[in-house]
This record gives sequence, structure tokens and C-alpha cells, in this order.
Amino acid sequence: MGWPRVSGPGLALLLLAQAGLVLYLRRAPPAPPASPRRPGPTHVLLLSSWRSGSSFVGQLFSQHPDVFYLMEPAWHVWVALPAGSAAQLQMAARDLLRSVFLCDMSVFSAYLPRYPSLAGLFQRAASRALCSPPACPAFPRGALSSEAACRRRCGARPLGAATAARACRAHSHVVLKEVRFLGLRALYPLLADPALDLRIVHLVRDPRAVLRSRERAAKALARDNGIVLGTNGSWVEADPGLRVVREVCRGQARIAEAALRRPPAFLRGRYRLVRFEDVARAPRAEIRALYAFAGLRATPRLEAWVHNLTHGAGPGRPRDAFQTTSRDALNVSQAWRHALPFAKIRRVQELCAGALRLLGYRPVASEEEQRDLALDLVLPRGPGAFPWTPGPQAGPEEEEEGEDEEAARGQPALPAP
Ligand SMILES: *[C@@H]1O[C@H](CO)[C@@H](O)[C@H](O)[C@H]1NC(C)=O
Ligand SMILES: *[C@@H]1O[C@H](CO)[C@@H](O)[C@H](O)[C@H]1NC(C)=O
Ligand SMILES: *[C@@H]1O[C@H](CO)[C@@H](O)[C@H](O)[C@H]1NC(C)=O
Repeated sequence: MGWPRVSGPGLALLLLAQAGLVLYLRRAPPAPPASPRRPGPTHVLLLSSWRSGSSFVGQLFSQHPDVFYLMEPAWHVWVALPAGSAAQLQMAARDLLRSVFLCDMSVFSAYLPRYPSLAGLFQRAASRALCSPPACPAFPRGALSSEAACRRRCGARPLGAATAARACRAHSHVVLKEVRFLGLRALYPLLADPALDLRIVHLVRDPRAVLRSRERAAKALARDNGIVLGTNGSWVEADPGLRVVREVCRGQARIAEAALRRPPAFLRGRYRLVRFEDVARAPRAEIRALYAFAGLRATPRLEAWVHNLTHGAGPGRPRDAFQTTSRDALNVSQAWRHALPFAKIRRVQELCAGALRLLGYRPVASEEEQRDLALDLVLPRGPGAFPWTPGPQAGPEEEEEGEDEEAARGQPALPAP
């Protein structure tokens, strides 16, 4: 037993080669997740904001037979601790996500009074995996589920934490949708966590369309508004100064800026920005790209379902996002252009200037432009479409402290051509 005998010059060469290898390894960027990885489960965080189409995109994941999906598990954190602010609660929300990604449901014992019963889980029926065995016999494993039918048939059935964990572990992908993060930094430990293989899908929507949708759902948002504004538990239904909208815009810009402008090494290849408008315009291509990013393969049944969704047929159509057909979805996404007064639009554009610029939405300069539907306000995305380039040379050591407030505060809007 022993090392192969090496001559003096040979040893020197070997050492040199080793030094070279060490240097090479130190410089080599981390492998992107597209390359083969350890065979463990994949974790996807669908990170979005209120009224931005995330229920619809969440269903694209939930219906996939390989996915265990939960919608907004951190809702429980906000409901249990309503006197906290979004910034104060984000760490508890982050830790809850980590546990659920690992199929450890014990974290809900802090939030669900009847634990180990998970019967009170928020929007349980939105999870196909929880509508089929072992959680509930309503739909065969792997079949498409319908939220309404699942609520009817599974809603009154008990659901234990151990059963939910078993359902979770039976899937290769755990996908969680969340709307309660206003920055990316709290999530960095999850990205660096060797127990997780996390990818983040960041879903955004034109803030002017978000505003219109928020106004139509004002009551349902009151508690969350209070937490966003840090009102010590008071609910905020009316938002005449658009303070919530401003905070939401800042949060979305902060996330995109952190991920795209100077991404830390552990984020590279693990973040994908998706605009809801792009999904509405080209659902098949966008959905394929989303699945590929998540390491999922579209099944023929899913393709048929998506076709139905975007053409207004078939069961299980989420009412919220794609009201009837994809063409109508586009129409709906433009509804703000005739429904909101220009003065309000101008104000949102001021408050959300940074987000508009960063995410590729064109401001309107006049009421005429606002009403002129022939004027496309969704700027093309793609390489070179944005004022920044994701710099591969930037590493974590070049990061500044704090999230990039420049984008969050808002920058001068694009001049109207
Ligand atoms: C927050 O509200 C609670 C009661 O709801 C009150 O006891 C407490 O003093 C309030 N804190 C602040 C900082 O206003
Ligand atoms: C699509 O819609 C047709 C017609 O409504 C229906 O028969 C079919 O089952 C639907 N397919 C899926 C996968 O939802
Ligand atoms: C769709 O667009 C037309 C104008 O092209 C408009 O009259 C109609 O109200 C729109 N429908 C919706 C649901 O926004």
C-alpha cells in the first residue's frame, strides 16, 4: 500500500498541476442547476405579490403529478402574529418555508391551534397532492384535480401532519407559492442550504394592473395591508395615498434588482423572472420554460389542460387569473387602461417608477396614451432589453450591505417616445 513513487521533477509537476487545479476550482463558477444534480427532491419557491396571477401560475405547478404544492403557507404566520411588520415576520416565514420544503409539517404546530390536525391549512384544496391519496381519496394520484370539487369532497375530512408529510415525500418536487416577502435577502440562507435544491420563480405583474385588481379585492387585503405598513395589528382597507402599492412595488423591485443586477454566486441559475403578461400572451412557451427551469416535464394531459385553460374550456379553470380565454386574459390585464383615472395612474407610475423600469413596463404620458390600447406598454424582454446586464463577474464579496434601495426608491421613468 502506498503512493506511487514519483521522481523529484515529477513531484514538482504534480504539485504545479494540483495548484493549477485548485486555482481553477476556486475560479470555476458553480454548476447551474440545469446540469445533473444529486437525485434528491427539487424545491421551487413561486415568489410573487398580491393580485399578480400567482394563483394561476401556482396551479400550473400544483397540477403536475410530480409536485407537492402549497399555496401561501406563510399566511399562517401573518394571521398568528398580526401585530408584526412584514420585515419582522419574514424570518419566521422563511423558516416555515424551509421546514415545509423538507416535508416537516411540525412547523405548523406554532400556527395551527388544533395541530397535529392540518385541517385548517390555508387553501388546502388548491393542492392537487392534498386532494388525492394518502391525504384524500377525491382524485386518483396523479390525476388533475378541481379546486371546487376538492373543497367539497376533502374539506371536511381530517388531515394529519404525518399524512401530509407522507404526501409531500411521495413527490420529487415541492413547490410553495408565497406573496409575503418584500426582499430576497431573508431567503439567501435557503439558497445556500445544502439540504435544499431551491429555485425561485419570481412572478411580477404591471403595477397599474395590480392596483386595479387590488381595488377590486380591497376587503380581502386589509389585514395584509396593515402588516405591510406595520400598523401593529390594525387592518387597512382604504389606501388613498397608495402607500401599500408603493411598498409592494419597492419589494418587487428590490427582489429583481438583487437577483439580476449583481447576483450572489449561489443565486446564479436559480432565479427566473416571469411577467404575468408574458404568460398571458404566450402561455405554451412560457409554461414550457417554467417547467424546464423547475426540472419538470410537461405531460400530454397537462398540455391539454393548459390548452383548455387558455381557450376557456374544461374544468378546474382558476377563476382569478384567466377569466375566460387567454385573449380575454390579455383584455383583462388591460382593464386598468379604461377603468382607472389618469391622475391615479400618474401617481402609481411615480411611486413605482423603479419597478416599471426594471421589469419592462412603459409608463403612459397622457390620458390619450392610457386609453390607446394599440399602444403596447409591455416592453419586450430578453438579452439587452434591460438597462442592466446580469454581470457574471460580480461575486458576493462585491455586494453592498442592504438591498439595493436605488431601484426600490424608484428612478426616473422612461421618457415617452
Ligand atoms: C400594539 O397594540 C397592542 C394591543 O393591540 C398594544 O398593547 C401595544 O401597546 C401596541 N404597541 C404599539 C407600539 O403601539
Ligand atoms: C378539455 O376540455 C374538454 C371540453 O370541455 C374536456 O372534454 C376535456 O376533458 C378537457 N381536458 C382537460 C385535460 O381538462
Ligand atoms: C375588452 O376590450 C374591449 C375593447 O377592445 C372593451 O370594450 C371591453 O370592455 C374589454 N373587456 C374587458 C373584460 O376588459
